[in-house]
Amino acid sequence: MNDGGGRRFGPLGTTLVIIPTFNEAENIKAIVGRVRAAVPAAHVLIADDNSPDGTGKLADELTIEDDHIHVLHRKGKEGLGAAYLAGFRWGLEHGYGVLVEMDADGSHQPEELPRLLTALKGADLVLGSRWVPGGRVVNWPKSREFISRGGSLYSRVLLDVPLRDVTGGYRAFRRETLEGLGLGDVSSQGYCFQVDLARRAVKAGFHVVEVPITFVERELGDSKMSRDILVEALWRVTTWGVGERAGRILGRKK
Ligand code: GDD
Ligand code: MN
Repeated sequence: MNDGGGRRFGPLGTTLVIIPTFNEAENIKAIVGRVRAAVPAAHVLIADDNSPDGTGKLADELTIEDDHIHVLHRKGKEGLGAAYLAGFRWGLEHGYGVLVEMDADGSHQPEELPRLLTALKGADLVLGSRWVPGGRVVNWPKSREFISRGGSLYSRVLLDVPLRDVTGGYRAFRRETLEGLGLGDVSSQGYCFQVDLARRAVKAGFHVVEVPITFVERELGDSKMSRDILVEALWRVTTWGVGERAGRILGRKK
């Protein structure tokens, strides 16, 4: 990771908080309300994958009395990665200067967003991190903590990415950072999307800063974590790691 190299960073511009949803009817109103209260200037984009529980309709209702709230209706469940890519495209087209990733279930506390945005004044990308000093997780089963810490460690070592929380999903990007990541060829669908973007940011030489957060496990609704998501993450991270090493060795021989 570079240290920013004494670089001067430009002003931030307007913030768009992107919240991907699949069956979050019990959570959507509360999380949007908390974002609006914590950072009143920010806009919110709900990227809903046609949730069978009616989350999209509830989201539409929120837009009626608040012009800072927007909804992107997608045709069906295509994974977290695809929802974020569509959300980023929408945000960049609409001229936002900062694009934030946030889960709908309250795990990423909107009250911590001002700290992420402050850090972004001197960075290209800020990661909310559970695994740096001061960061923590509340109410997670040991098994889930093991998977998350293990996934971060595996990614850090194999991909040579000097970050503690590589899989986390509470992040703030400057628009120029997203524009420099080559999003057009991202094919990660599940949670490995987060690893993919972190890795691309480091490789592109962006200044990435980790800020400690308290991740609070959801009280309502269900996690969408699945075996398929884990398997995709494992094979993609391994493929990237092996590919990079092979590339380096072949490059050396030339
Ligand atoms: N649109 C859309 N489409 N949204 C989705 C999809 C999908 O296919 N899958 C999940 N989401 C949304 C959920 O509705 C929620 O708002 C957010 O993505 C996170 O999903 P959870 O199911 O709550 O994730 P988690 O708590 O198990 O996982 C957390 O940890 C992961 C590993 O560190 C999240 O912070 C992930 O972002 C993180 O990668
Ligand atoms: Mn969650």
